[in-house]
Amino acid sequence: MTRFIACVSAKGGVGKTTTAINLGIALNQFKRDVIIVDANTTTPSVGVSLGTPLVETGLYDALKNGAVEDIIHYHDSGTKVIPSQLDLKTREAVSFAQLKRLFTSLKGMTDIALFDCSAGVSKEVSFIMKLVDELLIVTTPDPTSVTAALKTVRMAEEMGKDIVGIVVTRKKGKLDLSKSEIEETMGYPVISSIPEDDFIRRAQHNQNAIISLYPRAPASIAYRNLAAVVVEEPYHERVPKDGMLKRVVKAIQNR
Ligand SMILES: Nc1ncnc2c1ncn2[C@@H]1O[C@H](COP(=O)(O)OP(=O)(O)O)[C@@H](O)[C@H]1O
Ligand SMILES: [Mg+2]
Repeated sequence: MTRFIACVSAKGGVGKTTTAINLGIALNQFKRDVIIVDANTTTPSVGVSLGTPLVETGLYDALKNGAVEDIIHYHDSGTKVIPSQLDLKTREAVSFAQLKRLFTSLKGMTDIALFDCSAGVSKEVSFIMKLVDELLIVTTPDPTSVTAALKTVRMAEEMGKDIVGIVVTRKKGKLDLSKSEIEETMGYPVISSIPEDDFIRRAQHNQNAIISLYPRAPASIAYRNLAAVVVEEPYHERVPKDGMLKRVVKAIQNR
């Protein structure tokens, strides 16, 4: 049985792509067969983030001809990836029928198909939301992101979709909205708080996921804990409260 999960939020820049790629790889580390699908056809970034920016084949081809096997790329971790191409032919609107056919092809092919969605409340996003079984609402801990995410929550509720929980990213400190404030506003539990982590930018610079390059970095640990929640396994790694210098040394030692 394939689980179809999507990372969604109406606001851009809140960590949907970062969550999709790191959670996807973490789930793979938990021995699940995973395909990360870049469902953001307008501004795709999964391929760029994982070192395959200029793919010849990608989601566009799968949507056109329905053949999924030929367009799967493999990340070093073994996680499968369906990137979206960067060329302009992908500007064509994606239809619900095309996406439905893609979902039918993916069914049974993998344990988990994890979709990285674009921001906004476009037709494309609502199609993906309709087709997946479970939603992860991604937000940063500030009022504008949370209120935008609330819009996505309302859309999901209208569709009768199962919201797995809220993933709060870029958690920094005192000025952040608290976990309980976010839970009260959204009406769903915060199942993961990913700390602000400079190693995410370092990983991005190296076109790879933090969890692959810096497995001991705090955000990597948090993403593994999130994966455990998603697969409902009893696992908890403590995120160290070390200072920046200690973290740099540790992360480099663990490479
Ligand atoms: N935990 C984090 N710590 C530091 N930077 C982060 C973190 N999560 C995401 N970012 C950065 O925030 C920016 C937006 O993240 P991204 O995943 O692309 O958001 P979205 O897909 O929602 O637009 C990226 O530059 C990314 O590197
Ligand atoms: Mg994105």
